[in-house]
Amino acid sequence: MTAPVIAIYPGSFDPVTNGHLDIIERGSSIFDQVIVAVLLNVAKEPLFSLADRVAILKEVTRNWHNVEVDTFEGLLVDYAVARKARVILRGIRAVTDFDYEFQMALMNRRMQPQIETVFMMPAEAYSYLSSSLVKEVCALGGSVKGLVPPLVDEYLEKRMPRHRKKQR
Ligand code: COA
Repeated sequence: MTAPVIAIYPGSFDPVTNGHLDIIERGSSIFDQVIVAVLLNVAKEPLFSLADRVAILKEVTRNWHNVEVDTFEGLLVDYAVARKARVILRGIRAVTDFDYEFQMALMNRRMQPQIETVFMMPAEAYSYLSSSLVKEVCALGGSVKGLVPPLVDEYLEKRMPRHRKKQR
């Protein structure tokens, strides 16, 4: 019997967008298990706490039974080994993502050659989407409806209500 293929989908998810969910859904249809791993990144100043990001992710992925949400710190490959994952799953939105992703994939492979990085493309509708843009648009009163799950919209409303205009 072959071992189940476990994929880690790492990121900051500050906050999770529909683009991330698109990749999680695609990954969950191919791999036996997808672990969405939220990075405790000391270099980035997040809008949402780690606990909030995890709570949101757990809620919005709860219908996918082979998707788990976890946190990690330190090297991604060390976490992948600890979780017995053979795959690191990453989304490529546009060619501009490629340089950075290629460097990370090769560095990770140098450290752990048995772990493969697999790239997937989200739906074109999300190819321009990023968590920073969502936060910026929201902070300036724009609508992010359709770009993030409704739960994220609620969290954004609580986190930055004064800056948001009434949306129709
Ligand atoms: N849809 C929407 N947005 C997406 C997306 C998608 N499918 N895929 C990526 N993004 C966006 C994110 O929202 C994020 O936007 P932001 O910068 O505006 O917040 C941006 O692309 C990149 O963020 P993310 O994918 O979360 O990656 P990251 O740069 O925060 O972290 C890690 C990347 C976690 C893989 C990397 O930092 C890591 O491995 N860290 C652990 C330490 C380590 O091992 N270092 C050595 C690496 S070789």
